[in-house]
Amino acid sequence: MITITSYIDAVHRSQLMGLWEAVFGYDTAHNSPGLAIDKKLALADGLLFVALIDGCVVGSVMAGYDGHRGWLYSVAVDAAQQKQGLGSALVRHAEAALAERGCMKVNLQVRTGNEAVTAFYESLGYRVEPRVSMGKLIPDNF
Ligand SMILES: CC(C)(COP(=O)(O)OP(=O)(O)OC[C@H]1O[C@@H](n2cnc3c(N)ncnc32)[C@H](O)[C@@H]1OP(=O)(O)O)[C@@H](O)C(=O)NCCC(=O)NCCS
Repeated sequence: MITITSYIDAVHRSQLMGLWEAVFGYDTAHNSPGLAIDKKLALADGLLFVALIDGCVVGSVMAGYDGHRGWLYSVAVDAAQQKQGLGSALVRHAEAALAERGCMKVNLQVRTGNEAVTAFYESLGYRVEPRVSMGKLIPDNF
């Protein structure tokens, strides 16, 4: 049976880290799964969710709300469970949580090279917007 639920560190941590390593791979320290989980939990905003099949983590979505925009991160489904609607269910679950908090617009970023995934988000109502994404690391916080 599939359920989508809030992440519980003591129960889901190792499986979620395994999912992210398998689905994303990581080449930058600030994206390392353990660090990302710890920093998200420190916020205690209740916006990290996992999909479970028989208690095993097979999907994830991390959302963020800063009072202006909602953001989606780490949308992932285990390869063996893809194309069955689970990714869509995770995105909708996160959207509902953001809407509850007053969010008016949800944004997300797609990495260069992964543009094919825009079809997935378009099926959920997202549109590619004419923006240039910029970022800057803050090394003191690693
Ligand atoms: C993107 C991802 C989460 C989708 O999960 P999923 O459970 O397969 O998605 P769904 O079954 O809900 O798919 C919904 C629709 O999007 C389409 N779709 C799903 N993944 C797609 C992809 N990678 N590229 C293009 N279309 C995709 C499906 O065909 C489906 O369309 P349909 O209903 O007409 O058949 C999953 O493919 C994944 O984990 N990919 C690797 C990680 C990743 O790229 N995450 C996004 C980072 S921005």
